[in-house]
Amino acid sequence: MNLPARGRAVGKVILLGEHAVVYGRPALAAGLGIGLEVEVREGQGPAVESDVTDDGRARRLVEEAATLVGLDPSRLVARVRSELPAGAGLGSSAALSIAVLRALARAAGRRLSTDEELAHGRRLEAIFHGHPSGIDPAAAALGTCFRFVRGEPPEIRPLRLLWPVPLVIALGERPRSTGVAVGGLRARWEGERARHERLFDEIATVVEAGARDAVVGDIAALGRAFTANQCLLRALGVSAPAVEELVEAAEAAGALGAKLTGGGAGGAVIAVAAEPERVAATLRARGVRTMVVEIGAAEEAAA
Ligand code: PMV
Repeated sequence: MNLPARGRAVGKVILLGEHAVVYGRPALAAGLGIGLEVEVREGQGPAVESDVTDDGRARRLVEEAATLVGLDPSRLVARVRSELPAGAGLGSSAALSIAVLRALARAAGRRLSTDEELAHGRRLEAIFHGHPSGIDPAAAALGTCFRFVRGEPPEIRPLRLLWPVPLVIALGERPRSTGVAVGGLRARWEGERARHERLFDEIATVVEAGARDAVVGDIAALGRAFTANQCLLRALGVSAPAVEELVEAAEAAGALGAKLTGGGAGGAVIAVAAEPERVAATLRARGVRTMVVEIGAAEEAAA
């Protein structure tokens, strides 16, 4: 084994289409500039050292990932250093899966192909919630902006944005569980399939329009897509009073549209804004933790 070995992966935002993507509809996601790093060394394992409290799932992740790349987990300790807030909907669990896989593959003297990373990443994501679409590990592995449809393999179309999209990310106060949100929706879908399928179809239409708006840099239209998507997420029952408050506050501060991102039921809200720093400052003055990012800028830098 080549130890110590390191792996890094980025966090993500789902711009449009979360939840419906679990049911085969398209979604848009983008990697963030921030992420997390994992260092694997020899020790009494499988074990995880992290500043974030672990309920045992990260340890299971290391165990399963080691097996996937053909290593014995009992001799492996993973140290995690994360820049991502956990449980906010910014893909920290998927970034962890991909970073662990990359570190372990290096330890095994291998380099995984993107397809292998996506397939393994999706399998590992099931440790965190029961019906993963695979969009989170795809974003963690690719780090770019793309349209995604679940499948084996998933359909992934990179989107080349003419201009970076300015985005404000407002972090919810309390972490929440994607598993609970996805499981709750699954139960409601089972009880009332036709209504939910209709809402998923409406989300798909919003996603396709939003993808076109994002590509040509029409942020006013993209903002309207955010608002329409949030309305449909509310109808699906995956929003929460704390989310609605943040959405309203962002719009009152001048955002062109705002919505939850990721699992919802709390967690982060994203807003498109022509003057993102002004929106962020207004939210910060209310005690909300915010980040300003540019979607699509990472691809330019990487190109
Ligand atoms: O909360 P996150 O960052 O794990 O995002 C989950 C996205 C969902 O669409 C709700 C679930 C999935 O697997 O696609």
